[in-house]
Amino acid sequence: MLAPVTIAGVAKCVPERVVTNFDLESIVETSDEWIAKRTGIRSRHVVIGETGVGMACQAAGDALAMSGVRVEDVGVIVACTITGEDLTPSLAGSVQKALGIPVCAALDVSAGCTGFIYALVTAASLMDTLQKDAAIVVASEVMTKYLDWTDRSTCVLFGDGAGALVLRRSETAHLLCPILSATPDTDDVITVRKEARTTPFTGPAEEIGSFIRMKGADVFTYAVGVMEQTLLQLSGACPDHPYTKVVPHQANEKIIDFVVRTMGLSREQFFVNISNYANTSSASIPIALSDAWESGWLRAGDRVALVGFGSGLTSGGAMIDWTLPNKKEN
Ligand code: ACO
Repeated sequence: MLAPVTIAGVAKCVPERVVTNFDLESIVETSDEWIAKRTGIRSRHVVIGETGVGMACQAAGDALAMSGVRVEDVGVIVACTITGEDLTPSLAGSVQKALGIPVCAALDVSAGCTGFIYALVTAASLMDTLQKDAAIVVASEVMTKYLDWTDRSTCVLFGDGAGALVLRRSETAHLLCPILSATPDTDDVITVRKEARTTPFTGPAEEIGSFIRMKGADVFTYAVGVMEQTLLQLSGACPDHPYTKVVPHQANEKIIDFVVRTMGLSREQFFVNISNYANTSSASIPIALSDAWESGWLRAGDRVALVGFGSGLTSGGAMIDWTLPNKKEN
């Protein structure tokens, strides 16, 4: 069961340095035209001195400040990352320490680019199980450190950043219809293998390089299939009050366009900001929610579908009734 919650705060943190497609032309044989036409990406933010932990703490702290929830009332922190700097403490533990949250449940989840939806559902479930009144859900990724910068088919696709939401217990449920799913990645279509380590018992470890490897066309096929399926499930779950807007995982604009076309939906219903960030993996949905609200696209009273997919192979969705006061008049 999910606790009845409302979104009380939202924030993002992205590194200062912006790298355009034109900048990448001097690193690999590519062009702005190829990247923009195939993906919709024009630029991305990349870390120089920033860290995944630092960005997570900034985003979570800003979301918490906006929510007005006191640190002592945060009962749950769920963080997600596939690029964390530390094996331990968890990213959630680092956020707890940085924000001065005295006692709470704190854990990380890992579900590839679907991580944020898994984290959101986990946080609202734990609020119910543990009877807590507020939670922080935060995603932070430094994808650029796991890119093979000689592989043009992957290094142009990703960027860095973090995003966070604060959930507060409410009278009515504003987070609805959780969907979490995974299917075995039998063909290894998305992997980042960790470097093996040498111990006195294992013999020398093979050097493999921890890089994102992806079979692009297979990911495309998987992504459009699960996005359609998840959106259909979300529509079926609430036929009397369907979602009016969609904030999808930002992996490739062509994936979103394909789903819009095949499902006969309106492109205006979908929030897309991939041109400025590229794919920030699990951070893409909270960054998109933050921009959607800041820009005035997402408005109080909107019923918004979140839909994600990622390595694993995972997928997921949920609906949010947005209640934060409008940031801007449109
Ligand atoms: N610049 C120029 N040329 C390139 C580049 C590049 N950056 N990358 C590949 N090419 C070339 C290839 O070498 C190939 O050349 P060839 O025909 O001479 O062999 C040609 O472009 C076509 O390559 P494809 O891989 O077939 O290109 P495609 O049109 O399939 O687009 C892409 C590739 C954009 C990766 C696409 O398959 C895709 O979007 N897949 C979905 C993957 C995705 O979104 N992943 C996100 C990460 S995972 C996640 O978020 C869950």
